[in-house]
Amino acid sequence: MNGNAFGKVILCGEHAVVYGTPAIAAGIHLGATAQVVTNNTGAQSSFVLERMGRVTVGDGTDVARAFEALLKQFGETRSLHVEASTELPAAAGLGCSAALGVAISRAIAAFRGETLSPAQATEFAMAWERVFHGNPSGVDAAVAARGGCIQFVRGVGLEEIKLAAPLTLAIAHTGVASSTRVMVEGVSKLREKHPEQTNAIFDQIGVLSRRARHALEHGDLRALGEVMRENQGHLESLRVSSPEIDSLCKIARTHGALGEKLTGAGGGGCVVALVDGHADDILGAWRKQGVQCFVAHVHRTARTSDHSSAVVS
Ligand code: PMV
Repeated sequence: MNGNAFGKVILCGEHAVVYGTPAIAAGIHLGATAQVVTNNTGAQSSFVLERMGRVTVGDGTDVARAFEALLKQFGETRSLHVEASTELPAAAGLGCSAALGVAISRAIAAFRGETLSPAQATEFAMAWERVFHGNPSGVDAAVAARGGCIQFVRGVGLEEIKLAAPLTLAIAHTGVASSTRVMVEGVSKLREKHPEQTNAIFDQIGVLSRRARHALEHGDLRALGEVMRENQGHLESLRVSSPEIDSLCKIARTHGALGEKLTGAGGGGCVVALVDGHADDILGAWRKQGVQCFVAHVHRTARTSDHSSAVVS
């Protein structure tokens, strides 16, 4: 009765995707799992995540509200107890909350003897995501449900991207947690203040996403790296980078990355670097600075078993 989901990196297009620009995202082997372990105890439905402890419906926390929103989608009135776990750091741009939302949705569905298609799992998880993020584009939930590599356009849908070659990504955590809601609101305020400039940046990011897709479909890692680097420049202009992100990017660049950028909301969280071959130099340089980092491989097709083979150090 397990439900599983992928974590993700955004290779191009975060923030702009909220305003309808295409984004390119890829599932990684780290993910989330959930299971329904008891029912009909008479108690309120509850949810346990080992790092957070127990959350009970009605306790007034965001997590409880999100869990309740999921149960409501199913029309589930029985008392359910859900246990979930994730290898993903929270608030780090790796899609932790969406992965949990998808995994829990699948676990509840399995308990009910149902199976959710990726599109259904995405839709259910969006109810959960909205509680945390206010105005989520849906890219995280879409890739959490599918893995692989996708092009996502808000309100339009997604297309799977067939990779011509697998990707090796080095991922490092700044050690700073960041709130997607706060970062998305920051970009919204910037857009209110400077609509033309901000929309022009979104347009340029849209061009980069198209280039990224072409590069992925042709196995052109150099071109993909350039796109990621240019995208990071635009993210700096949107004021969602940070000194910690800039420093991790610089280390990656000087140790041979083809391209590097923040992933997700920024303001902290993780940096993703595209690597040609092995990632040892970059990981070694990050580790020298005491940075938590790991390697993720994006395969040519999604593999549902991938999130059991995490190597984090
Ligand atoms: O940091 P994350 O994993 O929550 O990713 C957020 C991605 C944004 O584009 C910044 C927001 C969104 O809803 O797409």
